[in-house]
Amino acid sequence: MFRMVKALLPVFLSVSLVMAAFAQDALLAGAFNETQAVRGQAVYYQHCLACHGESMNGVDQAPPLTGPQFGSNWRGETLWALVERMMTMPPDKPGTLSRQELVDTLSYVLWYNGLPLGDVELPAEQDVLSGMTFELPPLGE
Ligand code: HEC
Repeated sequence: MFRMVKALLPVFLSVSLVMAAFAQDALLAGAFNETQAVRGQAVYYQHCLACHGESMNGVDQAPPLTGPQFGSNWRGETLWALVERMMTMPPDKPGTLSRQELVDTLSYVLWYNGLPLGDVELPAEQDVLSGMTFELPPLGE
């Protein structure tokens, strides 16, 4: 019995290493649900799309909200930092959208960037969002 456990130990170890790496990439996976992302899409279409584009690639001066540049701009930042940035939007009318609307929009942006839906909504509380780190899934996934 002990022999078998010893033989299988490396297998267990490598499986848990892979799981740990996956969990890191998928930190924000399932952090929002479809209802919220769809609400956020409506906000995006009404208040953001004209400048950031239907495919979030950015138009004129407005930067993309998807892709490697966006990913590296925000990697390692808290979700709260990104929500605060969104609070400066739209640039000609900052502060006109509620925090809830912007958090919903953030969930749509995360969904659009390939993060999977979950069962719960992303909370709008500052202390919760300050404890969550931005990370997009690796390209091509
Ligand atoms: C009138 C055009 C316009 C609208 C509408 C607009 N944006 Fe922007 N956005 C910009 C411009 C221009 C910048 C970069 C310069 C700046 O900060 O003003 C920017 C920057 C950003 C950034 C920073 C991106 C980065 O990687 O640094 C985010 C996030 C963002 N906008 C989100 C939003 C969201 C969410 C909405 C809708 C609620 C929105 N924007 C509406 C023009 C716009």
